[in-house]
Amino acid sequence: LQPKRLVGRRVLVNAGPTFEPIDPVRGLTNLSSGKMGFAIARAAREAGAQVTLVAGPVALPTPRGVQRLDVRTAFEMFEACQAAAAASDVFIAAAAVADWRPLQASGHKIKKDGSGRPPALQFTENPDILATLAQGERARSGALFCVGFAAESHDLAAHAQAKRARKGVPLLVGNIGPQTFGQDDNQLLLVDEHGTHELPRASKLALSRQLVAEIARRLPPATLQ
Ligand code: C5P
Repeated sequence: LQPKRLVGRRVLVNAGPTFEPIDPVRGLTNLSSGKMGFAIARAAREAGAQVTLVAGPVALPTPRGVQRLDVRTAFEMFEACQAAAAASDVFIAAAAVADWRPLQASGHKIKKDGSGRPPALQFTENPDILATLAQGERARSGALFCVGFAAESHDLAAHAQAKRARKGVPLLVGNIGPQTFGQDDNQLLLVDEHGTHELPRASKLALSRQLVAEIARRLPPATLQ
């Protein structure tokens, strides 16, 4: 049994990819199974937290006792997270959010026009969910502890530290390569203001339990509600 380090805390986790429609049958997405975020939601629940899981399109069962909200696009994920964050103590951004979306999704299936020229798609940037919430009043006052993720192909420690500063979060979690997409295990690098700390290769659930413990000990003392 896991120690109940998060009793009385409300934890928001987002997970999985987002899907940005091009037309009714096509879209742009990121590779992400959602397994890491779902494992984190489960571990936070086991630690006694009240957990909200905002999930992009994934094929995973909802962890027991977790409130799940399914979304499709980055914008829907942004709105769901913003609403839930207002009543959360912790936000863990494990989702692989698409950085861009087609400027305008076509209402009908785009046809080949016979010219041999593919359609020119225009893109616009999606909101950065983590950076926006981390710069919000709740996070800046210390009421919302934000945790980001980074997947880098090289120089993870340096990139993760830079990303931590850019996003404005106290804790950033780096996925140590090689790519862990869809795998059941992972290896993490925690980056905070003191430096880096490695969590050696283990199952995503075991790592999530360690991560939850690391987050719990960084939280300000719980206030009575
Ligand atoms: O900038 P990059 O996408 O590499 O940062 C990854 C972190 O930022 C992850 O925690 C991811 O969930 C979050 N993110 C976000 N909104 C975006 C892009 C990334 O919340 N539009």
